[in-house]
Amino acid sequence: MTNNSYNAGILGMGHAYPSGILTNADLEKMVDTSDEWITTRTGIKQRHKAADDEYTSQFAVKAGKQALERAGIDPNDIDIIICATTTPDQILPSTGCIIQRELGCENAAGMDVFAACSGFIYGITMVESMIRTGQIRYALVIGAEVLTKYVDYTDRSTCVLFGDGAGAAVLGPVPKEKGILATKIRSDGRYEEQLYALGGGTRYGTTHETIEKRMHYFRMKGNELFKIAVRSMADISLEVLEKAGLTIEDIDLVIPHQANQRITDAVAQRLGINQEKVYSNIAYHGNTSSASIPIAMDECIQSGKIREGSTVLLTAFGGGVTWGATILKF
Ligand code: UT7
Repeated sequence: MTNNSYNAGILGMGHAYPSGILTNADLEKMVDTSDEWITTRTGIKQRHKAADDEYTSQFAVKAGKQALERAGIDPNDIDIIICATTTPDQILPSTGCIIQRELGCENAAGMDVFAACSGFIYGITMVESMIRTGQIRYALVIGAEVLTKYVDYTDRSTCVLFGDGAGAAVLGPVPKEKGILATKIRSDGRYEEQLYALGGGTRYGTTHETIEKRMHYFRMKGNELFKIAVRSMADISLEVLEKAGLTIEDIDLVIPHQANQRITDAVAQRLGINQEKVYSNIAYHGNTSSASIPIAMDECIQSGKIREGSTVLLTAFGGGVTWGATILKF
């Protein structure tokens, strides 16, 4: 059953994050850092932090519920739930299945996509062709992370960056001139050592030794990753623009993954787009990995920055390394 008379588009979005906040002043008391360093090098002023008894699916479910309500879609009409996360509740079952149960999406398949900060773009790219070809009708894609539980609060080079939260989108068929106009995802596993967490998998299963060596925490070569991130996000943005038959002048708003304000500024400069058209909320949320783009999108929809007719470019980069870009018309 193929139907090419429509595109896949966003029907409703939602987002959620923990009420706990970790400010730069709090971090000054924990590691050798300063508000001045964090602000000038990253743009971050605060990040949300889950409590010990809070976990990823709770925020994903809140965001997903809001997205379903705003889309006006019954949970039973969702065909697939993709949870983009690098910080699942547990190894088994997938967070997607837990979300499926909690939201009562009785006819949906639930699964996780593990693509770090590019996860939301990976997720919407996967469901785009399923919706466009009529294989499924409605999908729920959620980027959700509790990164702060994988952050080593003795490592000042990473602990100032990450925050927790979730953003969700209901996708479904929209008229052909709207929705996802072009999308592309990539990865390059040769850069594995730029950003990783070694402990807890089948290679270095959890032992006293892996815990003592703090191998379950994220490690990052931030400086090297910075350059690859800027280049990859800008290049793939140009590729999707070409695929959609558009130029950067056609874009009303760029929503980049919120990794570092300096990365965002450098990507904008490479693309030759005015900073005012590039959204940033990193000061308030830090880097929330796969959640950063859907949280930012929902903020833009709620504030009216994205409205009917807006053409929006999403671009992301993350550990793997992975990267991707999508152009959407609302
Ligand atoms: O989410 C997708 C993947 N993530 C990224 O793409 C992140 C990319 N990288 C970055 O955002 C930046 O590289 C960081 C924010 C992680 C680091 O900023 P930087 O300007 O690249 O700093 P650096 O790593 O080159 O370090 C410069 C100095 C070093 O000191 P020395 O060796 O010059 O004395 C660091 O030890 O800054 C020091 N430093 C800090 N100082 C105060 C590193 N972290 C901190 C800190 N507070 N939190």
